[in-house]
Amino acid sequence: MKFTVAIDGPAAAGKGTIARAVADHFGFAHLDTGLLYRATGRKVLAGMDPVEAAESLTPDDLRAPDLRSAEVAAAASRVAAIPELRAALVDFQRRFARREGGAVLDGRDTGTVICPEAEAKLYVTASDEVRARRRYDELRASGAETTLDEVLADLRARDARDAGRDVAPMRPAADALLLDTTDLSIDAAVAEAVAHITKRIGQGRD
Ligand code: C5P
Repeated sequence: MKFTVAIDGPAAAGKGTIARAVADHFGFAHLDTGLLYRATGRKVLAGMDPVEAAESLTPDDLRAPDLRSAEVAAAASRVAAIPELRAALVDFQRRFARREGGAVLDGRDTGTVICPEAEAKLYVTASDEVRARRRYDELRASGAETTLDEVLADLRARDARDAGRDVAPMRPAADALLLDTTDLSIDAAVAEAVAHITKRIGQGRD
């Protein structure tokens, strides 16, 4: 069975958590597409040519320990605006999406560019303040020295770059379910996502 769930949205809205939970629930494979851009950005910070960095990604690159840092996130969103670099990552993502057994992808353009034919799409958002608080708590828990204001400014700068770029800008697909997690618990957000996907499975492709 092939079934693709595409989950997009801005940083720290909860899409990664929701994507992992629905993949577990349905027994689908999960791909965090942001890791591809983070791993590429990390190699560019180390001096590599951006397109070469994307073309030469290995599974080990996706396991690098510092991929979640603010510096790597900012580098990821800068390199993500380069059309040739995005093109180098498309085939891998599309193959993953159409694998046997079902797949969940989360990112910025999975429902619009990577898998416009995905059977279920979600666009997950939350207020800037709530997203900044979540990311701040994560960064502090991992030992990073930062402030809430700094995290909020970084998030807004990254959102503006991701939504404003010419190629594959972050935006909801026309047929995506909008899920605002500002006032939702994780369990409630996951339950809404599972209900939507269950309905789509029941409907077949339409
Ligand atoms: O989702 P995450 O915060 O890990 O993504 C890091 C950056 O990678 C984003 O800010 C965005 O610029 C880029 N990205 C993208 N397209 C995707 C996933 C991530 O441009 N599908």
